[in-house]
Amino acid sequence: MQIFKDKVILITGANRGIGRALVDALLNNEAGKIYATCRNLSTMPVFDDSRVVPLFLDITDDQQIARIAAATQDTEILINNAGVLSAGNILDGDLSGMDNDMNVNYLGTIKMMRAFAPILRKNKPSKMINIVSIAAYSPLPSIAGYAASKAALFSATQSVRIELAKEGVAVYAVNPGAIDTDMNKGSDWDMPDPDSIALKILEYISKGKLDIVPDEMGQGMYNIWREDPSKLAKIFSDLYYAENTN
Ligand SMILES: NC(=O)c1ccc[n+]([C@@H]2O[C@H](COP(=O)([O-])OP(=O)(O)OC[C@H]3O[C@@H](n4cnc5c(N)ncnc54)[C@H](OP(=O)(O)O)[C@@H]3O)[C@@H](O)[C@H]2O)c1
Repeated sequence: MQIFKDKVILITGANRGIGRALVDALLNNEAGKIYATCRNLSTMPVFDDSRVVPLFLDITDDQQIARIAAATQDTEILINNAGVLSAGNILDGDLSGMDNDMNVNYLGTIKMMRAFAPILRKNKPSKMINIVSIAAYSPLPSIAGYAASKAALFSATQSVRIELAKEGVAVYAVNPGAIDTDMNKGSDWDMPDPDSIALKILEYISKGKLDIVPDEMGQGMYNIWREDPSKLAKIFSDLYYAENTN
């Protein structure tokens, strides 16, 4: 995919899951430099490639974000991948988990978008890619705080897409279904691996698609939602009651 050739890319949460897979996929597609950031450098895999620059970054920390933005002024593609998930429904789920989901997935990503918008404007044509979730379209009540944080992020992503539309910065929303990463540890769902999904994400981006559902399960859910949002809500309702009556 030529569009990543020689590009300078920054990825958050690059030490595992979809973030780690995106680093590998970008290396295989001739990226020029990858700022692979994570909040604990001892957990960063050895990519064994001089194009990878590991950096320490917690996306909830304003000072760290400012320091990293100052050090990575050549960034042309920002991938906001870092995220957390707390289980629990709205009426009696753990509020601190919901608060953390919102603080990382929504506010943390907004802070990254704000810090990097001037850099991406300067380095246009450029890209901002936010990893959201299919849960942004319709909530699964057993992960209600996570779904709300991703719905908020999806909305913010669409706002920023409009804000930057005339400034040479393309803004992408990636809304996967369930992917086989630590986030779904313990699930018995049949899920695709993050490597195949990372490749799909890059393929859709190279085709110029701004709203991306990279996996089959997510695409099925998205198509049902497009047909009638209440149909996806019914599927999630059935899942919720199946989980809670066992
Ligand atoms: N897996 C799925 O089914 C699925 C579906 C839809 C969307 N997504 C989204 O895809 C993204 C990646 O998730 P994943 O599946 O790869 O999950 P994962 O394996 O749990 O990875 C989450 C990543 O986010 C990082 N992170 C968490 N809080 C952070 C913070 N405050 N600052 C910086 N990094 C932080 C984690 O770092 P640590 O190692 O330090 O914890 C880790 O690198 C997330 O935004 C997730 O919501 C995942």
